[in-house]
Amino acid sequence: MKVAVFISGRGSNLQSLIDGCADGTIPAEIGLVVSNRPDAQGLTRADQAGIPTAVIDHKAYTTRDDFDAVLDRTTRKAGCTFICLAGFMRILTEQFVRNWRDRMINIHPALLPAFPGINCHARAIEAGVRISGATVHFSRPELDAGPIIVQGAVPVLPDDTEDALAARILDVEHRIYPLALKLIAQGRITVRNEIVRIDDAEFVDGFMINPLP
Ligand code: GAR
Repeated sequence: MKVAVFISGRGSNLQSLIDGCADGTIPAEIGLVVSNRPDAQGLTRADQAGIPTAVIDHKAYTTRDDFDAVLDRTTRKAGCTFICLAGFMRILTEQFVRNWRDRMINIHPALLPAFPGINCHARAIEAGVRISGATVHFSRPELDAGPIIVQGAVPVLPDDTEDALAARILDVEHRIYPLALKLIAQGRITVRNEIVRIDDAEFVDGFMINPLP
């Protein structure tokens, strides 16, 4: 399975996928890293791993359709058949998401469907939740929505700052994103009625993943 990873910044989740593919945990190859920002730190991570990169600057396009068409063409040209969104901070068009239905996943630093969108750590703290975490899910046209593949939970502590909570969640992100991609690459994931089923797993690698009924 040849995967394209879309990023906009730091690329720490990209790194966890690079590492998982490199050490054989994930039976997939990252064939392309796409960034909409020329200065994204993640591009350096890709270079260091010898992975081809493409910068597709959204500012160079007048419409979302034009931007997404180039994303689509570039991804296919690289021979990639699957997309991982890893901190890609652009909203994709409905058409693009439909074209990649069940072949595109995203990671979000909250326990979806709670707190989609930006500033989710601050909103979790303000809401007074005791538990937050991260979610890997298939993408649907609505923002940060779609069938859930893996979630990891962390406590929200009484004096948490946004940064402290974000760091605790990021640690979980780096564990669940490689796990989700591994399960997909192993062919163990199916989506039925918008619910993800995982073959032979109620607990995998210490995480609870949509236990079977
Ligand atoms: C991660 O925390 C990711 O979950 C979040 O952006 C960060 C990117 O960090 N994504 C979203 O908020 C998507 N709605 P990274 O560049 O170090 O992987």
